[in-house]
Amino acid sequence: MFFEEVEEAPVDSIFGLNAAFSADTRVAKVNLSVGVYKSADLKTPILNCVKQAEKILLIEEQTKDYLPIEGLKKFLENAGALVFGEEFFAKEKLRIAAAQSLGGTGALRLGGDFLRKEVGDTVYISDPTWPNHRGVFSKCGFKVESYPYYDRAKESVDFQRLVGFLEKLPPKSMIILHGCCHNPTGADLTLEQWKVLSQLFLTKKLFPFFDFAYQGFGDGFQEDASAVRLFANDGHEMFVASSYSKNFTLYSERVGALFSLTNSESVAKRVLSQLKILIRTNYSNPPRHGAALVSTILEHPELKKEWEIEVSQVRERVAEMRNAFIRALTAKNSRFQFLEDRNGLFSFCGLEKAQVERITKEFGIYMTLDGRINIAGLNWDNLDYVVDAIISVVSK
Ligand SMILES: Cc1ncc(COP(=O)(O)O)c(C=O)c1O
Repeated sequence: MFFEEVEEAPVDSIFGLNAAFSADTRVAKVNLSVGVYKSADLKTPILNCVKQAEKILLIEEQTKDYLPIEGLKKFLENAGALVFGEEFFAKEKLRIAAAQSLGGTGALRLGGDFLRKEVGDTVYISDPTWPNHRGVFSKCGFKVESYPYYDRAKESVDFQRLVGFLEKLPPKSMIILHGCCHNPTGADLTLEQWKVLSQLFLTKKLFPFFDFAYQGFGDGFQEDASAVRLFANDGHEMFVASSYSKNFTLYSERVGALFSLTNSESVAKRVLSQLKILIRTNYSNPPRHGAALVSTILEHPELKKEWEIEVSQVRERVAEMRNAFIRALTAKNSRFQFLEDRNGLFSFCGLEKAQVERITKEFGIYMTLDGRINIAGLNWDNLDYVVDAIISVVSK
């Protein structure tokens, strides 16, 4: 009697594809949709350093008592140093309000709820972007607008248009930036372009909110943090939503953090007090296990070393598959050359919506409707099948 009027909501544009893939009975099917790393056997592994850290916790952990509202202190300290760099974080941490979050998504939502209450009513997301950006920031109560980023006709970032657009925005506009490994295009800005944006944000008083979900999946942990650290060093007040789902393979443990870099210790204190109210009234306090794993790995030099090696192996496998994919595609059609300078798991593969629908229907190859593929879904067994299917749908 209470729920008769409830309407069925649409399935999630990304997770829905996983369900459709599982239900597909074709043997040759390929899943290039959801953004998780897959090793050569197409399974999503647990890093060995995580297993080692679990053993340590099993023996050494003394309590499952509630964490403080803002989360595990040593996790926030270690993660802060990873994001901002050890030197900067050690020097400036008192003006950074840091809160543990439920993955990167939780950090985006926490930051969005805070900004909507304290700063303004419009947020700008990249066109295109990870679809959940629109969902999260709409639910915070923002008007969500897009800023131009990628030119599909040229298959590259349209930096001039981006700058022209940002220049006209009113002060206090909040801009969601992809810290590295732009999702879905895989096309990142160069450091020179970030420098231009940093100055523009300062002169126009725009607020940078970095979504930083793939640190370590582009060129390396330090390299991938270049944009975030450039903005931090240039004196911005800014937010960083950091995720440890991908770079620690802790997807289902929901580990993330929101870092709010402010102008002073007293502002940071006040910001944190407000963030704590948002957390307390939502899920009270964050879970311990995943955060304890991350900080255990970052604190033990030998585990940290192993983690760096394991993540570099992830990068190597993705690079190997990307190169093989490009070689095979361009041997058949030169228009796919644009796939070269991409970072991270994702890339647009150049298919339009109707072609994506066909490749899924005719070949059982799953990708998001914008043509985004997860390169880690490829291996030596399915590569030729995917390449031939792409060539087939673009040529008919
Ligand atoms: C761009 C982007 N931001 C944030 C997230 C959220 O990550 P998490 O699973 O840690 O919430 C993802 C995950 O796919 C992502 O691709």
